[in-house]
Amino acid sequence: MRIEALERGFLVVSVVLLVASLGGLLYAVSARGAHLPGHVALVDPALLAQTPPFDQPGVRQTGPDTYEAVVIARTWAFSPSEIRVPAGAEVTFLITSGDVIHGFFVEGTRINVMVIPGQVTRVIYRFKQTGEHLLICHEYCGIGHHTMGGKVVVQ
Ligand code: CUA
Repeated sequence: MRIEALERGFLVVSVVLLVASLGGLLYAVSARGAHLPGHVALVDPALLAQTPPFDQPGVRQTGPDTYEAVVIARTWAFSPSEIRVPAGAEVTFLITSGDVIHGFFVEGTRINVMVIPGQVTRVIYRFKQTGEHLLICHEYCGIGHHTMGGKVVVQ
């Protein structure tokens, strides 16, 4: 009898956890706008130098309050490695890889995406305060992986 009661208890706890997790997921997606960074476009990694916008990596203003940061990840550096954006503006990062899979993680933000050769990764972010954020590749990409980084300077 005692064991059956314990089993029933574990069963109830399992179901409650499942329902709570599903509820949390639905809440994040519907109320908080959480989503996976979908792939935006396909590019030929061998032709980035001729493919807009990757023929001109860097930050440019696209509207009164919007900026675009075009970044190429290659073993073992980001181009550009220093990204300067104004505080408060909406920044759309467009990132791709020229070779293997890299990561793009900006410390202290929710910018945390994979950079896949042949695909364009897009992530939109608004930096509220001025300061510097470390930018790192967090996807193992070879012997120089630990040296692959840069910074985002919010002005
Ligand atoms: Cu690029 Cu690790």
